[in-house]
Amino acid sequence: MKKVFIVGAGQMGLDIGQVMAKTGYQVVFNDMSEEILATQVGKLEKSLDKMVSKGKMTEEKKAEIMGNVSTSATLDAAADADLVIEAIVENVQVKKDLFAKLDALCKPETILATNTSSISITEIASATKRQDKVIGMHFFNPATVMKLVEVINGLNTSKETFDTVYELSKEIGKDPVEVKEGPGFVVNRILIPMINEAAIVLEEGLASAEDIDKSMKLGCNHPMGPLALGDLIGLDTCLHIMDTFYAETCDSKYRASRLMRQMVRGGKLGRKTGEGFFKY
Ligand code: NAI
Repeated sequence: MKKVFIVGAGQMGLDIGQVMAKTGYQVVFNDMSEEILATQVGKLEKSLDKMVSKGKMTEEKKAEIMGNVSTSATLDAAADADLVIEAIVENVQVKKDLFAKLDALCKPETILATNTSSISITEIASATKRQDKVIGMHFFNPATVMKLVEVINGLNTSKETFDTVYELSKEIGKDPVEVKEGPGFVVNRILIPMINEAAIVLEEGLASAEDIDKSMKLGCNHPMGPLALGDLIGLDTCLHIMDTFYAETCDSKYRASRLMRQMVRGGKLGRKTGEGFFKY
């Protein structure tokens, strides 16, 4: 495997590409326009410069990484890629349309991976004629730092595809886990209901936001309280994931917090809007 094509050079795609290029893979970033790509690759270069100035990376390594990176605003360059990693908007129809196009374009042996946080791998794979080569490769934010990759099998993902992606995850310095498909996979399945429960505890007036977070930090040794973490992830994202769990299972234990829904409707989404459970 030599060439990796990354669709969506946003928050996640850019970091994933950096990790791949650092390992020595040829990385092609794709996004909606040349302008977005230029901005994003500029950001990548700036963050590498920062590491060089802090003595955490050599100039040579930076040059090597940048030398492994190129961009393309069209999908054509995916044709000879060995692996495609999709990190575009979390919308099932948009992802399926993309996978259908990639399936038609890419060579037969290309593996098509998705970084989706919540969408069914089997559903995305159903848009292709290579369901055995479609897999979830779920990185965590920031992907340059976080060690975990959830490698997620869809119903028809082959063992060969799984083994290739699992080994690749190790090669790029990550510590992968094998996960069967299910809403939210492992981490978000446990994490998001915890954040939601913290919002319900706040809604019921059992304690203040500060004390709920303090309780979980001091009582469970969590580095960050659940409400602050919800603000960091984005309350719109947390709500979307809770609603997906409910839609997939019809289980009332996944009822979203009313307070959280109201805050999302009112534009209090967390850090990105300057206010969520806390003010920033
Ligand atoms: P983002 O909004 O930062 O980046 C998405 C990028 O995809 C943007 O640059 C956008 O212009 C581009 N894009 C959208 N539609 C496109 C298309 N049809 N073709 C090419 N490019 C397109 O989003 P982010 O946060 O990087 O999330 C991307 C994916 O990764 C989502 O599926 C999300 O659920 C998943 N994810 C996000 C995590 C997070 O903490 N933000 C963590 C793990 C997974």
